Amino acid sequence: MLSYQHAFHAGNHADVIKHLCWIGVINALKKKDKPFTLFDTHAGAGAYDLTDAMSSKNKEYETGISRLLSDDKGAQDLPGLLADYLSLCEPFLAQRQYPGSPAISAKAKRDGDNLHLMELHPAEFDKLDKNVSRLRTLNSHVHKRDGYEGLRALTPPKPNRGAILIDPPYERVNEYSDLVKGVEQVFKRWQQAQIVVWYPLLSERAGAKSGASEAMCEKLSAMGKPCFKAEIQVAENTPDSGMYGSGVFVLNPPWQLDTNLKSALESVVGMLGENEAGYHATSQVSWINEDN
Ligand SMILES: C[S@@+](CC[C@H](N)C(=O)[O-])C[C@H]1O[C@@H](n2cnc3c(N)ncnc32)[C@H](O)[C@@H]1O
Repeated sequence: MLSYQHAFHAGNHADVIKHLCWIGVINALKKKDKPFTLFDTHAGAGAYDLTDAMSSKNKEYETGISRLLSDDKGAQDLPGLLADYLSLCEPFLAQRQYPGSPAISAKAKRDGDNLHLMELHPAEFDKLDKNVSRLRTLNSHVHKRDGYEGLRALTPPKPNRGAILIDPPYERVNEYSDLVKGVEQVFKRWQQAQIVVWYPLLSERAGAKSGASEAMCEKLSAMGKPCFKAEIQVAENTPDSGMYGSGVFVLNPPWQLDTNLKSALESVVGMLGENEAGYHATSQVSWINEDN
């Protein structure tokens, strides 16, 4: 059963870390002229109207992207990756929208690079289709299909360079093991794939899902690929705190993504500041398997 709707969460702190990291990967791929292919296994609606009933319900963007805009810092003082993210978001925010990962990929890639967007939820898929058409980008393809099945069918790409964003809703506890299987299958056919996995940090209140991200990251590490993880924590991890932060696990990361992301996240947590309980946001980037 698919009930998750990303509009409720658009532009929150989790979108900030995920989309910063994804732009960092795309920026690195653009350093070479050779075209690349991007895959987004769980694409969502593509872009979000921050004034609609879902986004307005909890206004999660107010403690995410909005805090990065209300800072006095001029763009010239921002780390490069953060400046790139904010300038990509700016035209969307001017229309009270937030770009989802499909809009970010479509705007950040070059015309000759390919983009495959997979979304299973029929209503979300219809929105995705419309939002991607509105962006009028070349070589961007939408697929109403399971993201892992799509990866099996469409990888490795030709030419053999590119990246995958895996951003499931984690509604069911077995989505963590599905993801591990999906990544294993990709590496059997495409060793060089750069893969970004977003994951939630969940307190005891989440029951069986608490600790599931950590266990999933251990299984991803055991695949032996160079990998690091980056996290931001926005609340204290008390039994009742729910989602107290999130992270990205990056396999086969491009050169310098770790340092670019580290400086961007240090600025981000400074701007996110404190939650209502006085907890000041923190960030960390740590290598698991060093890239030798
Ligand atoms: C967290 S949202 C994606 C947000 C999007 N990546 C972004 O950053 O803007 C997860 C999406 O995955 C979709 N979904 C769930 N299971 C799926 C599957 N097996 N294959 C493809 N899409 C799936 C959900 O309908 C939902 O729209």
